[in-house]
Amino acid sequence: MTDDTLESVLTEQRLFEVPDQFAKQARISGMDQYFEMMKHAVEDYEGFWAEQARAEISWEIPFSEILDESNPPFYKWFSDGRLNVSYNCIDRHIEAGNGQRNAILWEGEPGDQRSLTYNELLDEVARLGNALKAYGVGKGDRVVIYMPMVPEAVAAMQACARIGAIHSVVFGGFSAEALKDRIEDATAKVVISADGGLRSGKTIPLKANVDQALEEGCDSVEHVVVLQRAENAIDWTEGRDVWFRDIMARESGDCPPEPVEAEHPLFILYTSGSTGKPKGVVHSSAGYLLGAAATMKWVFDIRPESDVFWCTADVGWITGHTYIAYGPTAVGATQVMYEGGPMYPEPDRLWAVAERTRTTVFYTAPTAIRALMKQGEEWPAKHDLSALRLLGSVGEPINPEAWMWYYRVIGGERCPIVDTWWQTETGAHMIAPLPGATALKPGSCTHPLPGIMADVVDEAGNSIDRAEDKGGLLIIRRPWPSMLRNVWGNEQRFIKTYWSYFPDQYLYLAGDSASRDADGYFWILGRMDDVINVSGHRMGTMEIESALVSHEKVAEAAVVGRPDEVKGNAIHAFVILKGSRGDQDLDHLRDDLRGHVAEKIGPIAKPDDIRFADGLPKTRSGKIMRRLLRAIASGEEITQDISTLEDESVIRQLQGKD
Ligand code: WT7
Repeated sequence: MTDDTLESVLTEQRLFEVPDQFAKQARISGMDQYFEMMKHAVEDYEGFWAEQARAEISWEIPFSEILDESNPPFYKWFSDGRLNVSYNCIDRHIEAGNGQRNAILWEGEPGDQRSLTYNELLDEVARLGNALKAYGVGKGDRVVIYMPMVPEAVAAMQACARIGAIHSVVFGGFSAEALKDRIEDATAKVVISADGGLRSGKTIPLKANVDQALEEGCDSVEHVVVLQRAENAIDWTEGRDVWFRDIMARESGDCPPEPVEAEHPLFILYTSGSTGKPKGVVHSSAGYLLGAAATMKWVFDIRPESDVFWCTADVGWITGHTYIAYGPTAVGATQVMYEGGPMYPEPDRLWAVAERTRTTVFYTAPTAIRALMKQGEEWPAKHDLSALRLLGSVGEPINPEAWMWYYRVIGGERCPIVDTWWQTETGAHMIAPLPGATALKPGSCTHPLPGIMADVVDEAGNSIDRAEDKGGLLIIRRPWPSMLRNVWGNEQRFIKTYWSYFPDQYLYLAGDSASRDADGYFWILGRMDDVINVSGHRMGTMEIESALVSHEKVAEAAVVGRPDEVKGNAIHAFVILKGSRGDQDLDHLRDDLRGHVAEKIGPIAKPDDIRFADGLPKTRSGKIMRRLLRAIASGEEITQDISTLEDESVIRQLQGKD
C-alpha cells in the first residue's frame, strides 16, 4: 500500500444511493434489514448460520451440530448432516418442476451456440458420473479437470460432486508442467480434458499438455477423458484415453447422487502464495454450497425465474467455481457461459452476448472493464443493454474511474455495482454491498455480509478505530461456513499461512491490507505479502522467480509488481546471469526467458519487463530489498536509504541506465 492509495480512498466522497426501483423489488431492501441480519448473527452466530443452512440446502440427513470449534483452526460446520451437492444444484430444481428451465446459455468463440436445460444438464452429469465410477473413481478420489469454457466443464465438476469424488480444476492457461505438479499433488486417478481450447483466435493444446504431463510423471492417472472441441489433431494412448462422446453414448443417464458428510471435501483448487509451490485449497461440501447459494441471493439478488446471470470468469479460478459451476445452479438460475476472449473478434463481443441473451446480472473483473474502457464507448453503444439491472466486480480493487465508466456506460446509470471482496480461501463473497440496501462508494467493497465478522486490525490483532486514517490487516474473527478447511496434504502450511500471524488468537489472516472510513466502509488497499494481482489473477512472485532461476543462464532473480493501467499489476523481473552480461544477446535472452516462464507456469506468468544487472540490492544481512525494487520497477524516485548497499552501481543497472 502506498500513502497515495490511502489518501485517495479516504477522500473519495461520492455516494450512490440505492435506486428506488431496485430497492422496491430487492430480496434485501434497506439497511434496516441488513442490520437486523447482522444483529441476529452477532447475538446467535450458530443460530443464524443454521437457519441459512436449513433454508438454502436440501439435506439428505439434517444436521444437529452447527459449528465445531473443538480443534482450531480445523473448524467443522453442520458435521453430522449429509447431502449431495449435485442433487442440490440440479435434481431438486427438476423435482420442483423446473427441469425445462435453461441452466446454461453457452456461446463458443467462433459463434456456435448451445443451451442446456436442467434436465439436459442432469443427463450429461449422470452419464459422466457413471463413467467415472466405471473407471474405479469413488468417494474421495481425485479427478483433475483441464478444460476450455464449455458446458461440459461444469458437467464434469458436477459429476464429481455427484459421486463424492473431489475435483481439482486446473486453468487451461497453465502449462503442462504446472498441470503435472497439480495432478501429482492431488494424485488424481482421472483427467478430464479436451483436444483443444479456443481463445482469442488461438487453439490451446490441452490434450498435448496432458500427454506431456503424463509422460513426465503423474503415475496415479489411469484414464484421460477427451472432449472434442477444437478439431485439433491429437495423439491417442489406447486403453488410457477415451472420448467424452463415447461415454455419453455408452453410459446410462441414471446415476443416483451419493450422499456425503457435510465436511466431505468438494474440491481442491490450487492458488499461489508468497512461498513455494501453489497450495491446494480444500473446500467442504455443505459450508461451501451454503456460501455460494446465499451470496447469489444476497449480493446478486437473483430471481431464478426471471434473471439471466453471467459471470465472465474461467472455471479454472474460484470465481468460476462459485459463480458458474455451483452458485447459479444451486439457486436454479439461468446463466450465460462464453468460451472465448472478450475482445474477439472485436471489442464488443461481451456486449453482443449480453444483448442476445438478455443478461440481467453481469459480473466481471476491473481489468476487463479497464481494457474495454480503453476501446471506447462506441462498442457498448452498438448494443441494447437495457436488460441489465445489476453489475458486479471482483478480483482486485476497482479504481473509481473504471467504476464510473462501468456505472454510466454499461449500467446506464440505473444498475448498482456490487464490488465483491473475497478469495479462493473464503469460498464466497465476504465483503460486498447488498444492492437493495447499501449506498455505494466507487472503489469500496462496502460492508461485511451478514454473519461475516471481518475487521481491520493492527499487528497485535486489535481493531483499528474507524476514521483513524490508517490502514491495517484484514482479518476474519470467526470461522464461517464457506471457509477453506485445509491445504491439501499440508496441514502445517494451512496453519502457518492463515492462522499463525497473531499468537494465541485464531484470527483468519486474509493477506490483504485494508482501511475503514468514518462511515464504516471497507477499502481494500492491496496484498501485504509477495503475491501480486495480474489481471485479477493471483501470482506468487517467488514462483516466477523459481521458474526464472531454473533457466540454465540465470543465477538469481527477483520479481515484483509494477502498477499497470489495465492489468492492475505488471510482472517485472530483475535477472542476474551466470557469467558476464556483456557476452549475451540480451534481447534474445529476454524472449527466451519469457518463453521459459510460460513453459514452467503458463503464459499468464510471463514477465512484462526483464532487466539484467550484475547483482540485486541486498541489505547487509542478505535480504533482497524488495521495496526498493518495486520503486525502481515503477520508475519512482528512490527515497529508501541505500547506504547499506554493497554496491550502489547495481541501482543504475537495475534502472536500465547502464
Ligand atoms: C485476492 C484473492 C475471489 C475472487 C478472485 C480472486 C484481491 C479480490 C477484490 C475486491 C479488492 C480484491 C485481494 C484478495 N481481491 N476481490 N473486490 N477488491 N481486492 O481470488 O485469486 O484468491 O485472489 O484478490 O487481494 O486477497 P484470488
